[in-house]
Amino acid sequence: MALLEIRDVTRRFGDFTAVNNVNITIEKGEFFTLLGPSGCGKTTLLRMIAGFDLPDSGQILLDGINIVNMPPEKRPIHTVFQSYALFPHMTVAGNIAFPLKMSGKMPDEIRSRVRESLDNVHLSSFANRFPHELSGGQKQRVAFARGLVNRPRLLLLDEPLGALDAKLREEMQIELINLQQEVGVTFVFVTHAQNEALALSHRIAVMNQGNIEQIDEPSKIYGFPRNRFVANFIGKINMMDVQVLEATYSHLKLIVAGLGEVTAPGKEGVKAGDKGIMAIRPEQVQILHHAEEAEVKGHFPGKVHDYLYVGNVTTYIVELANGIRIEALLPNSTAGRAKFFEVGDSVVVTWQHDASTFLND
Ligand SMILES: Nc1ncnc2c1ncn2[C@@H]1O[C@H](COP(=O)(O)OP(=O)(O)OP(=O)(O)O)[C@@H](O)[C@H]1O
Ligand SMILES: [Mg+2]
Repeated sequence: MALLEIRDVTRRFGDFTAVNNVNITIEKGEFFTLLGPSGCGKTTLLRMIAGFDLPDSGQILLDGINIVNMPPEKRPIHTVFQSYALFPHMTVAGNIAFPLKMSGKMPDEIRSRVRESLDNVHLSSFANRFPHELSGGQKQRVAFARGLVNRPRLLLLDEPLGALDAKLREEMQIELINLQQEVGVTFVFVTHAQNEALALSHRIAVMNQGNIEQIDEPSKIYGFPRNRFVANFIGKINMMDVQVLEATYSHLKLIVAGLGEVTAPGKEGVKAGDKGIMAIRPEQVQILHHAEEAEVKGHFPGKVHDYLYVGNVTTYIVELANGIRIEALLPNSTAGRAKFFEVGDSVVVTWQHDASTFLND
């Protein structure tokens, strides 16, 4: 049985629907992420799981039992916020001990559990400090420890790394993965940062305007976005208007206006005549010099319009014959000065057909 089941949950504020008929099933031990732009309903959904807010309709089942009417303090669920929400007048140890005291644990057990929690988040030598004596990352680690010390069935994390700078954020991401593996608690993590979701999660639910657009593993979300919204929201992607010429189970023949035929992997429910988008990630697009053209199947001539060198990779923008600009991301993996093409160079672009996706909604 699933640990958490969100069944047909809707939440309205006046005539605005913040969460629209959402269905999610989360397994025990999962690191599950709600990902979506600001205002899409992530926090609203999390608040209903925690019990701080009530759905207008639908059920939330924990271990098969509907908890919609259970008060938050009765739920075996803890929430960690971006703002840490530590008690300023309590030491680190005091903050972590607080939930244990509230649930009436004996002093001996409190001491040993606090010690274990401090150890989990690598803060053993900080037990007697106060929150104002800690860095942002350390404060957030105390918040994680406090969230986990009572061994909740579910830990909800609402943009917990949002206040940290990029480098620290990356370090904390790795710590968070390790922590979750160590304690084995199920995490429901909220973020609007797609790279963070991809890096941390076992599965991701992509949300948009209160709806779930796709639930999948990170590599599926990135590699096989279900629709335009997901494709656009997760990373960069090239899109071309196409029409389906031929559709079989294994492949689609597509016509790109002004370019000709391309092939894409087959997709259920697609038939000849359908219109849509062919999407291809920039790192899947190769650029070749004209001379090599003869050896490549399925290639398109163009001219380098611009490029952006950012150290590890260079993004080239190539203008194709039909005026469409396509981005290609090339790793700068060879030693020495990295630059392979100049603005104005005549090139051909190509990609593996199974790296592209046809999107019809
Ligand atoms: N109590 C409320 N009353 C009215 N509208 C609300 C209320 N709470 C949330 N909303 C609206 O519901 C929508 C979803 O809000 P929510 O806080 O869930 O978004 P979010 O995905 O968490 O966004 P962010 O990434 O900015 O935190 C927003 O348009 C918000 O203005
Ligand atoms: Mg929010």
